[in-house]
Parts: sequence; structure tokens; C-alpha cells
Amino acid sequence: MDFSVFEEHESCVRSYCRKFPAVLKSSKGAIIKDVDGKEYIDFFCGAGALNYGHNPDEIKKKLIEYIEGDGILHALDMYTEAKGNFISKFQKDILEPRGLGDYKIMFPGPTGTNAVEAALKLARKAKKRNTVVGLMGAFHGMTLGALALTCDKESRLGAGVMLNDVLHIPAPYMFPELDTVKYLETLITDDHSGTPKPAAVILETTQAEGGIEVFPVDYLKRMRELCDKYDMLLIVDDIQIGCGRTGTFFSFERAGIKPDIFVLSKSIGGCGLPMSLTIYKPELDIWSPGEHNGTFRGNQLAFVAATAAVDMYNGMKLDERVKAGEKIISDFLENEIKPLDSRIEVRGIGYIWGIDFSALGEDVTPRVIHECFDRGLIAESAGRKNAVLKLMPALITDEETLKKGLGIIKDSIKAVLG
Ligand SMILES: Cc1ncc(COP(=O)(O)O)c(C=O)c1O
Repeated sequence: MDFSVFEEHESCVRSYCRKFPAVLKSSKGAIIKDVDGKEYIDFFCGAGALNYGHNPDEIKKKLIEYIEGDGILHALDMYTEAKGNFISKFQKDILEPRGLGDYKIMFPGPTGTNAVEAALKLARKAKKRNTVVGLMGAFHGMTLGALALTCDKESRLGAGVMLNDVLHIPAPYMFPELDTVKYLETLITDDHSGTPKPAAVILETTQAEGGIEVFPVDYLKRMRELCDKYDMLLIVDDIQIGCGRTGTFFSFERAGIKPDIFVLSKSIGGCGLPMSLTIYKPELDIWSPGEHNGTFRGNQLAFVAATAAVDMYNGMKLDERVKAGEKIISDFLENEIKPLDSRIEVRGIGYIWGIDFSALGEDVTPRVIHECFDRGLIAESAGRKNAVLKLMPALITDEETLKKGLGIIKDSIKAVLG
């Protein structure tokens, strides 16, 4: 395979291509093919952008119809039929049944970090306070506002400016003996804490980039109560783990809580098309027209795909499929992977799982990723020192492919551990 065009002309900032050195050409369902015809089972799924798999027929058909009918492709944030259809479907089939029917839907710009920026701006504007609390280990995006709440050192080094107006507290898994909700309450109430009252708390209910750390239901409920008690907003970042990844459409459903603001991106665009949403309680709808503007706040193809994706999610009962698949994955990790070495830890929920090699040394995960890739499987790393192998199959992956992918992972680990 010839990579010279990329290596000579593309910026050094390129990243995933270094780990997965192939020139990709086509894809279907859970499978990607490169220009040489080699197939890869996709356990990375565009970092969560391909929950419905590659080129799903249900979505592709609607996109082709739309393009062939000369459907409008760009319209800023003007009213279009495609946007109207998406809003109606999402409102009726996703928000309403979950008691979120009165929440406002904002289109902030096409990427996840755009949605986070909008959420942060809105929270600060609504509460007239500048501090936002984030959790250590979090990832919220790479633009400056979101980056201030993103924790990994490497990402933050690129900022070039001070990353201010944030306060990081330990995530619940970091010090099991420390009540981190109580700790935050003390920071807010102690007049000697040296901490200004925050506008909001932002969190992922399962940290993905943080190393697949599933937050306990009780923690999420208590954080909701704390925010209510001290008039702070709770923002949930569902960008990577929303759209069914954890077994429910929104990840916070399992805790029975409602955030004040939540953000979605990645798989909401159906088949990898760029789209983001910042969704919030109606009383927070205090923007003036155009106050958070942008040229690409209405990708019409993404609206078409996203509308079809909602039908796919409900029609295929993907929540039930994920529950069944979750058992296959967790049983495999418990019975086939953990026995390979007593120092291996596994954790996860739904269709996002981590195999933690921290205790085995820093080079193990990259070597396992390399072995997997050679054997025809794409999976990424996450967590501190990138020591966690992250498994994120498409929600539509059939049982045979799921098991084949897990088998490749087992063989790869065995090859690395000798
Ligand atoms: C939880 C979370 N928030 C925000 C983002 C940023 O999204 P984007 O890369 O589309 O800007 C990501 C991306 O991985 C993410 O995982």
C-alpha cells in the first residue's frame, strides 16, 4: 500500500492513520475493506459515530432519494423540509417517550466540540457565573472551551493559552474511599474553600476516552440532587456514548435522571454524517437570534440520515439487541480474556467495553492493537497512558461477527503475552 501522498502532503497532526496503516476504500455493516481487498471488523466505529454500522441500507436509500430529487444541500439554519422531518421524528419518537418532549433542540455546528461549546456558553450565560466543574479523566473536545474541561495532558498542551474557568474534581472511580459529591459540596459551601460557585457540572455517565469507566447510578443521582440544591446546571456529554451505545438511547436513562443540558453528536448523524445537538430545558432558551451562529448548522444530508436512523433504532429494537450482545461481550471478557493474565481488568456497559492492561506495562495495548489490525480487526485505546483497549462494535453487528471479533482480540492478546 502506498501512503506517500498522505505522508508527504498531509499535516503531522494526522493520528488514527498512524495506528491503522491502510488505505480504506469501502465498508458495509461491521466490515471495512481497504484498497487491497483486506477486510477489517470494525470495533472502533468512528469513535462512536457509526453505531448503526457502515452504509446501512435503510439510511443509504433515503440519502440517494434525497440527492436524486435535488433536495437542498445547504441552507444555513433556514427552515427546510429535511430539518422539519428530523425535528418532528426526534421529538416524537425519542424525546417525548423519555419525558424530554419540552426540551429545546439547538443545532450548534457539525462537530461534538461545537455542541459542548454551546452548552458551556449557555450555562455560563444562564447562571451568570464562569466556573464549570468537570471530572478528571473526561474528554469533551478540542476547541478551547471544551478543551479546558478535557483532561489529558497531550490534548491540553496544544491549547497555547490558559485553559481557565474550570474546576476539575476526581471522578468517582479514582478514590473509592472519597465521597466526591460531598467533596464538591464542601468546595461550594465552605467559605474558606477558595472556590467560586460554579455555573454547572459537566460529565459523561461512562467515561469513554477516560478508560471505559462506568459511573454508578447512585453517583449520578446524587450529582443531580447536588446541582438542584445549589442552583447549578447538570450537563451530560452523550457525544460518544449516546444513541444507544450503553443500552438505552441516552446514557443517563439508566440513572433515571434528566440533565438540564445534554449534548449529542457522532451517531446522531446516522451513518457518519456530521451533526450535533445541544438539547436543554425550555427555560434555558435564552439565546438571542444568532448569538451562537455558524455556517454549517444544518447539514441537510445529516438530517435525512438522522431521521432514518431513528426509525432504524426503534424498528430494529437496537436497545434489546445491545442487551443481548452485552452479555456475549461481558461473558467473553470474563471467561476468555481475564484468565489470560490475572492482572488484566475488564469493565464496560452495553457495547462499550475496556480491557485494561495498565498493570502489565505501557507497551501491551499498542502491541495488541497492532496484532488485532494484522488479523483484521480495528480497535482503539483509551484511558491513562492509553493502556485500555476499547471495544466499540456497531450496534447492528451480528452475533457471528461479534464473536469472530472477540476471538481475534483473544488471539492477539495471547500473541503479545506469549
Ligand atoms: C465525550 C466526547 N465529547 C466530545 C467529543 C468531541 O467531539 P468531536 O471530536 O466531534 O469534536 C468527543 C470526541 O471523541 C467525545 O468522546
